[in-house]
Amino acid sequence: MKTKKVYICSNCGHKNSKWEGKCSTCDEWNTYVEEIIVPQSKSEKKKASWLKESNEQTPTLIQNVIQNNIYRLPLTDKELHRTLGGGLVPGSIILVGGDPGIGKSTLLLQLALKSQFEILYVSGEESAEQIKMRADRIGINNDKCHVLTETNLSKILKTAHALKPSILIIDSIQTIVSPAVESAPGSISQVRECTVDLQQFAKETNVPVFIIGHINKEGSIAGPKTLEHIVDTVLQFEGDRNHIYRILRTKKNRFGSTDEMGIYAMESYGLRQVENPSELLLSQSDDTLSGSTVAVTVEGMRPMLIETQALVSQAIYGTPQRSATGFDLRRLSMLLAVLEKRAGLFFGQNDVFLNMAGGLKVHDTAIDLSIVSSLISSLQNIPVNSKICFTGEVGLTGEIRAVNRIEQRIEEAARLGFEEIYISKYNMKGLKNKSSKINVHGLGKIEDLIGDVFS
Ligand code: TYD
Ligand code: MG
Repeated sequence: MKTKKVYICSNCGHKNSKWEGKCSTCDEWNTYVEEIIVPQSKSEKKKASWLKESNEQTPTLIQNVIQNNIYRLPLTDKELHRTLGGGLVPGSIILVGGDPGIGKSTLLLQLALKSQFEILYVSGEESAEQIKMRADRIGINNDKCHVLTETNLSKILKTAHALKPSILIIDSIQTIVSPAVESAPGSISQVRECTVDLQQFAKETNVPVFIIGHINKEGSIAGPKTLEHIVDTVLQFEGDRNHIYRILRTKKNRFGSTDEMGIYAMESYGLRQVENPSELLLSQSDDTLSGSTVAVTVEGMRPMLIETQALVSQAIYGTPQRSATGFDLRRLSMLLAVLEKRAGLFFGQNDVFLNMAGGLKVHDTAIDLSIVSSLISSLQNIPVNSKICFTGEVGLTGEIRAVNRIEQRIEEAARLGFEEIYISKYNMKGLKNKSSKINVHGLGKIEDLIGDVFS
């Protein structure tokens, strides 16, 4: 059969006969990659005439649609169970993405080992011995976990049809090849074809399928963006490899909310579920040091108290350095600019380092107020009492903006023994049943913060 070369946009999947710098469909730059494709057989081309042949269908009124209660497979891993929206939906297909070495294989092997159902774990990356070594580390013996080391999709699906497992795990989609596609493993057409076939398997057999996907330099799941459209759920496993904490976020979920997330700690015996993150993310020392303050954040639906640390020091070399771990560097620059413009605090001659305890990447903008406080505390060398915590977003004009779930935040801070909490004054208005255990202070602008806390 004759093959031909095409260029496929890795963002939107658009096909082009020649390479171009910019995709004409999605306007992204540098996204075209070369692929070899096998032309479709004649029988497939015939399908084009389907429009003429198919019969008319009667639509159903929405109130007449009978809704079957979706049964969900319960998982012993409570964090994963909750992240998926309360268990696994039969026939669903879940993509788990994350940096290399973050613990994707560990997460799913652990799920397989702890499960009371038959599970088929397919690995195209590691040998059975390597998987056994990991299982020994996790330290669970299970007679329901079947391991297959194979990369050929048709063989994998045959085995899966014969074994009829309750869950199928594919580690990873980039190593699997479909014999129907000529291009190399990991290429856009391979990844897409394999995912579509796995989806078909899931829908036909009602077996839920987990797919592990690698991440590219930009942090999105390698392969076409369309992959995320095909699957039902996209989970992202993230964290800093040098720290033990990991967050499992939901980027998309057809069967639940994307607000849910799971928190784990990578221990020597596998991943441990973290039920009470606040207590771990606060530093254990009782000394109050300048540059360290506590933020009350809400990640997903869970309130979490995190220590934010800043170090502002005299720049020795020409250009002052800016460095942030677990926080967006551009947002740090913005907060520094706000402090200069609105509060007259100058960081131009200083190196600024920012660190979130536990190395977790925080998405909640309510962390701003604590970061700003850490920066001022370090710049002026004034420690902030360790019984004080902060929650509020900082705007470009230096105003402290209201944040969501304020009652939940205050409650969590009070529960952990904090005595004072600084929030936006705009949050004060709607505040019901004020807690008696904690003093709540409302701030309108950055200047109020300086006046109240640093004077
Ligand atoms: P792995 O699951 O192989 O990551 P991925 O599949 O995302 O590439 O996990 C890799 C890291 O986790 C590795 O550096 C070792 C560490 N690890 C532990 O710390 N404890 C454990 O029990 C296991 C199994 C792994
Ligand atoms: Mg792996």
